[in-house]
Amino acid sequence: MRRKVIAGNWKMNKLPNEAINFIDKLIPLVKNSEAEVILCVPYIDIFYSTLTAQKTNIKIGAQNMHYEETGAYTGEVSPSMLKSVGIEYVIIGHSERRTYYNETDEDVNKKIKSAFANGLKPIVCVGETLEQREANKTEEIITNQTEKALEGLTTEQVQNTIIAYEPIWAIGTGKTATSEDANNSIKAIRNKISQIYGQNVSDRVIIQYGGSVKSTNCKELFNMSDIDGGLVGGASLNPEEFAKIVNYDK
Ligand code: 13P
Repeated sequence: MRRKVIAGNWKMNKLPNEAINFIDKLIPLVKNSEAEVILCVPYIDIFYSTLTAQKTNIKIGAQNMHYEETGAYTGEVSPSMLKSVGIEYVIIGHSERRTYYNETDEDVNKKIKSAFANGLKPIVCVGETLEQREANKTEEIITNQTEKALEGLTTEQVQNTIIAYEPIWAIGTGKTATSEDANNSIKAIRNKISQIYGQNVSDRVIIQYGGSVKSTNCKELFNMSDIDGGLVGGASLNPEEFAKIVNYDK
């Protein structure tokens, strides 16, 4: 049985004092969760967030990283820097980074390898645009992105990669993929992993859904056979709303 993993992605929101207040409120609300609870916070909030979440079941993640360890990369943050402040998870290849900062599948692959080399667990985003969906290319796009992201990883690393299927047209738009559609896309990703790495591995890979997940639609989504939780943007900015999503099964 795969466990559910429910991660918030705050994107470019919340100052450190707001992060601390949020986590203080969230701690009692999710303390009995069976799902893994992760908050991916802005760099500036990481230190305060890991301190506040210490000794709780809330894990802190980052939203991006560079693949190099050190060097002349002004403004960037390395995986060992993230590790040193208590980060366990890191989002890689979010569609906003692919779109606004031209991150390629090759960058994504390098970052995933570098994350593992530094003891971080990557949450790797894949997803199609509306145009691609309307041209019936969803499956081709997301399975290609998955294949390229995982290229050269060991089977153990693949097994420990979390994939987030986030259809780009559903992000921040209030439009959610139907649970059947989301489940089918995730099944296609799982089949691709099975073809390359074997069914044992594909059965174990956590694949989340992301895109306008809310307390009102999460239960239906998370109860689908292949959806192992969610990567939640807007609805993760309010502790009560995010807690309802984490506690979708209660
Ligand atoms: P929304 O939940 O705001 O649609 O964002 C999804 C997302 O991009 C999470 O990474």
